Amino acid sequence: MAEVDYGPANLAELRALQLERLKSTLAHAYANSPHYAKAFDAAGVTPDDLTSLADLARFPFTTKADLRATYPFGMFAVPQEQVSRIHASSGTTGKPTVVGYTKRDIEIWASLVARSIHAAGGRPGMKAQISYGYGLFTGGLGAHYGAEALGCTVIPMSGGQTEKQVQLICDFKPDIIMVTPSYMLAILDEFRRQGIDPRASSLKYGIFGAEPWTEAMRREVEEAFDIKACDIYGLSEVMGPGVAQEFVSSQAGPTIWEDHFYPEVIDPATGEVLPDGEEGELVFTSLTKQALPIIRYRTRDLTRLLPGIEVPMRRMAKITGRSDDMLIIRGVNVFPTQIEEQVLKCEGLAPHFEVEITRPGRMDEVLIIVERRLDCDEARGSAEGARLAGYVKEVIGISARTRIVESGALPRSSGKAARVRDLRDRTPA
Ligand code: DLL
Repeated sequence: MAEVDYGPANLAELRALQLERLKSTLAHAYANSPHYAKAFDAAGVTPDDLTSLADLARFPFTTKADLRATYPFGMFAVPQEQVSRIHASSGTTGKPTVVGYTKRDIEIWASLVARSIHAAGGRPGMKAQISYGYGLFTGGLGAHYGAEALGCTVIPMSGGQTEKQVQLICDFKPDIIMVTPSYMLAILDEFRRQGIDPRASSLKYGIFGAEPWTEAMRREVEEAFDIKACDIYGLSEVMGPGVAQEFVSSQAGPTIWEDHFYPEVIDPATGEVLPDGEEGELVFTSLTKQALPIIRYRTRDLTRLLPGIEVPMRRMAKITGRSDDMLIIRGVNVFPTQIEEQVLKCEGLAPHFEVEITRPGRMDEVLIIVERRLDCDEARGSAEGARLAGYVKEVIGISARTRIVESGALPRSSGKAARVRDLRDRTPA
């Protein structure tokens, strides 16, 4: 028997399954969620109007604002006693976004994370250290249930306590680590601080996500730990980790588990559905969720849909950033990931950086603060800073000042990294 189920074997079967599941999801949402009943009525559609997958474009979008407006449980489509778990995403402002799962939702989620870990190289019997935060965040428990469902031995470490992370890796010898890429760097620093060779660790596979990261960062951690690193994508509103997962065999962007989540890419300005291959905002409709069916959820994540490689399901290109994270600096659109790429081109600089934007006069000013690597002295560090400014100007097209600080000077986060400090509101023109 196969270790995990990768869904329909061909495209025709996949599309037929999606259509059937989409119809029942729309009917379930319309009948059981007053929010969707109202939204569909306002748009003049009923579930019967969907006879093909393309008809989905006639249905209204759902946004984070809809979830906030119905806080905490208003969008749930099952009675509360059938909700077996709640998660929430903190968000930077105001109330958290609350999501719920039935017992079956949790089972499907676990099976999709099991599939994801398998795609990334994990196998039953391997040990998996889970260093995503446990709690309301979907990362820790989502990864945990998936690793158990695959048949791994789970080490539920959670985020933080960096010294202990290293101790457990050395003593328990996990094959797999699941963690945010930025926190993996903090773990790497701790290995080096303790004088332990990270390449000699037991780790073979890293499953990194919850925030954007670049190919340059992949090379950095793969090289440092002698592991294979794959991208895991997901969001609480749609499920949590395991909506899409990169295969270790191709490392060519996450495959969207389309048998459970129907993807669309839209023009963020007009809402129009774009053809595959064009970059826009990723939108998801859940196909099997009971407690919180989600119809055309606007993720704010920018990407393109690409053809499948290992399975008929489509891939998404690695996310460049969220539309919310995009900085507009003197009219130029800039994502923190673009800066990460330039930093990692400079051998003397470490991938720990912060971008500070101010507007002391009429013009935006950008300061990139980067740590130098342990083997890079101050003099070489300042030469590397000048090199970085040159790359940023040449490749991204903005002028930036750089400040090189010593290793360990910048704060570390044990979950998602906060890279940007936009102080423009506080620096009046
Ligand atoms: O971050 C779920 C998750 C946990 C995914 C662990 C992967 C691993 P939220 O906190 O709701 O859920 O944040 C979702 O994080 O819309 C993206 O902007 C970003 N994100 C998640 N995975 C990736 C990734 C979890 N692989 C938001 N690459 C999403 C880039 C990612 N961005």
